[in-house]
Amino acid sequence: MRILLASKIDPTTIDELSKQHEVSTCFDGTQEELIAAIPGNEAIIFRSGVQISRPVMSASPELRLLIRAGSGMDNIDLDYVNEKGLTLERIPQPGAKAVSELSFAFMLSLARELLKTDRLTREGAWPKHQVKGRLLTGKTLGIVGYGNIGSRVGWMGAAWGMKVLGVRNDAYPFPEIDVSDHDVEFTDLDDLLSRSDFVSIHCPLDDTTRGMIGARELSLMKPGSILVNLARGGVVDEEALLKELKDGSRLIGAATDVHAAEGPGEISPLAELDNVILTPHMGAMALEVQSEIGGRILALVDQYDSGDRSNGAETTEPSNVENN
Ligand code: MLT
Repeated sequence: MRILLASKIDPTTIDELSKQHEVSTCFDGTQEELIAAIPGNEAIIFRSGVQISRPVMSASPELRLLIRAGSGMDNIDLDYVNEKGLTLERIPQPGAKAVSELSFAFMLSLARELLKTDRLTREGAWPKHQVKGRLLTGKTLGIVGYGNIGSRVGWMGAAWGMKVLGVRNDAYPFPEIDVSDHDVEFTDLDDLLSRSDFVSIHCPLDDTTRGMIGARELSLMKPGSILVNLARGGVVDEEALLKELKDGSRLIGAATDVHAAEGPGEISPLAELDNVILTPHMGAMALEVQSEIGGRILALVDQYDSGDRSNGAETTEPSNVENN
């Protein structure tokens, strides 16, 4: 098969694919670069950071298979995929393990002021009595998007002794996730924001969630609360968050792995604050996870190549998408 890799994936997987297929690369390409690279390819494998648009896909009449090496669907023209009857396979489950753990890394770091404490300790200040650490145990954790990733955060939060609140979007049924034994109270967004000490965001980006957390929503949050965003940059209004954090009466910290503008050279407006953690959309970047995703990619390509499309990825239907 002729396969275009539009994003970097696990290197061992690239080696394995290249042994059996004609693999070319155009990592994180612009539209023009992708349009130039795709002709003749039957498959494209990609992650976030590239736009798999109509002009890109239509530049290869041979294109049949798209493998989203992760979860989010906000960078694919699904109308085109459906119109042309292309096969779109997602691999959402492995990344959920890494993203949910990063949510806890963020919440713990912010609650225990680790960034500031590390800096002061390196400077020799020995800030033992300056630190105003807080517990997660006993606090309320609000999860916006209680799906593939959010439900793992909820399950972990309950194990830490947190009261867990969740918001789900009925547009994303996600029937394969059984949360019947989860200790979670489902509610609406305003109620969740006004009751939570920690808010962790995991919903997909679409027309219903774009700008969903703006000035009004932030104004509902509790004094002393912490917000972490591992969904998509467009879900939270960064300027409103900056204003709210500067005001200092409600949020004491925030972390965001996803940004309105992403890529080398992009610097978030939140970078001016030292009670904010910023990371480069690396939620799914755990070695074990990328290797597992790589294994699934190899299996999918094999199945597709051998004509057996009945045992694809764990979740293949775009209509089942929730979370990034
Ligand atoms: C995802 O949607 O799975 C994440 O954004 C990971 C990625 O593609 O980089």
